[in-house]
Amino acid sequence: MIVTKQRTLSIVKPDATKRNLTGSVVAMLEAGGLSVVAQRRVRLSEAQARAFYAVHKDRPFYEALVAFMTSEPVVVQVLEGEDAVKKNREIMGATDPKEADEGTIRAALGMSLEANSVHGSDSPENAEKEIAFFFAGCELLD
Ligand code: CDP
Ligand code: MG
Repeated sequence: MIVTKQRTLSIVKPDATKRNLTGSVVAMLEAGGLSVVAQRRVRLSEAQARAFYAVHKDRPFYEALVAFMTSEPVVVQVLEGEDAVKKNREIMGATDPKEADEGTIRAALGMSLEANSVHGSDSPENAEKEIAFFFAGCELLD
Protein backbone atom coordinates (compact mmCIF):
# COMPACT_ATOMS: atom_id res chain seq x y z
CA MET A 1 0.00 0.00 0.00
CA ILE A 2 1.32 3.43 -0.90
CA VAL A 3 0.80 5.89 1.94
CA THR A 4 0.90 9.49 0.77
CA LYS A 5 1.39 12.03 3.48
CA GLN A 6 -0.49 15.27 3.06
CA ARG A 7 -0.56 18.55 4.99
CA THR A 8 -3.44 20.82 5.91
CA LEU A 9 -3.90 24.11 7.76
CA SER A 10 -5.79 24.10 11.04
CA ILE A 11 -6.72 26.96 13.34
CA VAL A 12 -7.81 26.68 16.96
CA LYS A 13 -10.30 29.54 17.00
CA PRO A 14 -10.79 32.22 19.70
CA ASP A 15 -13.69 30.47 21.45
CA ALA A 16 -11.43 27.46 22.06
CA THR A 17 -8.22 29.30 23.02
CA LYS A 18 -10.25 31.47 25.42
CA ARG A 19 -11.59 28.36 27.20
CA ASN A 20 -8.08 26.83 27.38
CA LEU A 21 -9.02 24.02 24.98
CA THR A 22 -5.98 24.08 22.66
CA GLY A 23 -4.69 20.83 24.18
CA SER A 24 -8.12 19.20 23.91
CA VAL A 25 -8.24 20.08 20.21
CA VAL A 26 -4.71 18.74 19.65
CA ALA A 27 -5.57 15.52 21.52
CA MET A 28 -8.56 14.92 19.23
CA LEU A 29 -6.50 15.64 16.11
CA GLU A 30 -3.77 13.24 17.26
CA ALA A 31 -6.28 10.56 18.25
CA GLY A 32 -7.67 10.84 14.72
CA GLY A 33 -4.26 10.07 13.23
CA LEU A 34 -2.94 13.54 12.41
CA SER A 35 0.38 14.98 13.62
CA VAL A 36 1.06 18.63 14.45
CA VAL A 37 4.23 19.48 12.49
CA ALA A 38 4.15 23.27 13.05
CA GLN A 39 2.20 25.41 15.49
CA ARG A 40 2.11 29.07 16.55
CA ARG A 41 -0.16 31.14 18.78
CA VAL A 42 -0.96 34.52 17.22
CA ARG A 43 -3.35 37.41 17.60
CA LEU A 44 -4.64 37.99 14.06
CA SER A 45 -4.78 41.57 12.85
CA GLU A 46 -7.97 42.73 11.16
CA ALA A 47 -6.14 42.80 7.81
CA GLN A 48 -4.90 39.22 8.30
CA ALA A 49 -8.37 37.93 9.22
CA ARG A 50 -9.94 39.75 6.25
CA ALA A 51 -7.35 38.34 3.86
CA PHE A 52 -7.55 34.80 5.23
CA TYR A 53 -11.35 34.73 4.85
CA ALA A 54 -11.45 36.80 1.62
CA VAL A 55 -13.34 33.97 -0.10
CA HIS A 56 -16.29 34.85 2.17
CA LYS A 57 -16.08 38.65 1.73
CA ASP A 58 -19.53 38.96 0.15
CA ARG A 59 -21.28 36.68 2.64
CA PRO A 60 -23.50 38.23 5.34
CA PHE A 61 -21.44 36.65 8.13
CA TYR A 62 -18.07 38.07 6.96
CA GLU A 63 -17.84 41.17 9.19
CA ALA A 64 -18.87 39.24 12.30
CA LEU A 65 -16.42 36.45 11.42
CA VAL A 66 -13.53 38.92 11.10
CA ALA A 67 -14.46 40.47 14.48
CA PHE A 68 -14.66 37.01 16.07
CA MET A 69 -11.34 35.78 14.64
CA THR A 70 -9.53 38.87 15.95
CA SER A 71 -11.22 38.87 19.37
CA GLU A 72 -8.68 36.58 21.09
CA PRO A 73 -5.47 34.79 20.08
CA VAL A 74 -5.72 31.78 17.78
CA VAL A 75 -3.36 28.83 17.32
CA VAL A 76 -2.39 28.19 13.70
CA GLN A 77 -1.18 24.68 12.95
CA VAL A 78 0.09 22.54 10.10
CA LEU A 79 -1.24 19.00 10.38
CA GLU A 80 0.26 16.05 8.57
CA GLY A 81 -1.01 12.58 7.83
CA GLU A 82 -2.49 10.33 5.21
CA ASP A 83 -5.29 12.17 3.38
CA ALA A 84 -4.90 14.95 5.96
CA VAL A 85 -7.26 17.50 4.39
CA LYS A 86 -10.23 15.12 4.30
CA LYS A 87 -9.34 13.43 7.57
CA ASN A 88 -9.16 16.78 9.38
CA ARG A 89 -12.57 17.80 8.03
CA GLU A 90 -13.96 14.50 9.37
CA ILE A 91 -12.38 15.02 12.79
CA MET A 92 -13.68 18.62 12.87
CA GLY A 93 -17.29 17.81 11.96
CA ALA A 94 -19.90 19.96 10.22
CA THR A 95 -19.65 23.77 10.29
CA ASP A 96 -22.66 24.06 12.63
CA PRO A 97 -21.86 22.24 15.90
CA LYS A 98 -25.57 21.31 16.17
CA GLU A 99 -25.23 19.35 12.93
CA ALA A 100 -21.78 17.87 13.65
CA ASP A 101 -21.51 14.11 14.24
CA GLU A 102 -20.95 12.89 17.77
CA GLY A 103 -17.25 12.56 18.61
CA THR A 104 -16.15 15.40 16.34
CA ILE A 105 -14.35 18.48 17.66
CA ARG A 106 -17.19 20.83 16.74
CA ALA A 107 -19.83 18.59 18.35
CA ALA A 108 -17.74 18.26 21.51
CA LEU A 109 -16.42 21.81 21.86
CA GLY A 110 -18.22 24.16 19.44
CA MET A 111 -20.47 26.88 20.87
CA SER A 112 -22.29 28.20 17.79
CA LEU A 113 -22.24 28.28 13.99
CA GLU A 114 -19.65 31.08 14.21
CA ALA A 115 -17.76 30.04 17.34
CA ASN A 116 -17.15 26.49 16.15
CA SER A 117 -13.68 26.02 17.70
CA VAL A 118 -11.64 25.05 14.62
CA HIS A 119 -10.84 25.92 11.02
CA GLY A 120 -9.62 23.36 8.50
CA SER A 121 -8.64 23.73 4.84
CA ASP A 122 -11.32 22.40 2.49
CA SER A 123 -9.10 21.12 -0.38
CA PRO A 124 -5.44 20.22 -1.00
CA GLU A 125 -5.10 23.36 -3.18
CA ASN A 126 -6.44 25.63 -0.44
CA ALA A 127 -4.35 23.80 2.16
CA GLU A 128 -1.20 24.72 0.26
CA LYS A 129 -2.28 28.39 0.03
CA GLU A 130 -3.38 28.59 3.66
CA ILE A 131 -0.17 26.94 4.95
CA ALA A 132 1.90 29.45 2.93
CA PHE A 133 -0.23 32.29 4.38
CA PHE A 134 0.93 31.49 7.94
CA PHE A 135 4.19 29.54 7.70
CA ALA A 136 7.53 30.02 5.96
CA GLY A 137 9.04 27.11 4.08
CA CYS A 138 11.98 26.99 6.52
CA GLU A 139 9.55 26.22 9.38
CA LEU A 140 8.29 23.15 7.56
CA LEU A 141 11.39 21.13 6.74
CA ASP A 142 11.14 17.37 7.37
O1 CDP B 1 -15.26 26.42 8.53
P1 CDP B 1 -16.01 25.72 7.43
O2 CDP B 1 -15.17 25.45 6.21
O3 CDP B 1 -16.73 24.49 7.92
O4 CDP B 1 -17.19 26.71 7.00
P2 CDP B 1 -17.21 27.93 5.94
O5 CDP B 1 -18.48 27.85 5.20
O6 CDP B 1 -15.95 27.98 5.14
O7 CDP B 1 -17.28 29.21 6.88
C1 CDP B 1 -16.14 29.74 7.51
C2 CDP B 1 -16.50 30.09 8.94
O8 CDP B 1 -17.43 31.17 8.92
C3 CDP B 1 -17.21 29.00 9.74
O9 CDP B 1 -16.32 28.03 10.27
C4 CDP B 1 -17.89 29.82 10.82
O10 CDP B 1 -16.97 30.20 11.84
C5 CDP B 1 -18.31 31.07 10.03
N1 CDP B 1 -19.69 31.02 9.52
C6 CDP B 1 -20.67 31.80 10.14
O11 CDP B 1 -20.38 32.52 11.11
N2 CDP B 1 -21.97 31.77 9.67
C7 CDP B 1 -22.29 31.01 8.61
N3 CDP B 1 -23.56 31.01 8.16
C8 CDP B 1 -21.33 30.23 7.98
C9 CDP B 1 -20.02 30.25 8.46
MG1 MG C 1 -14.26 26.78 4.90
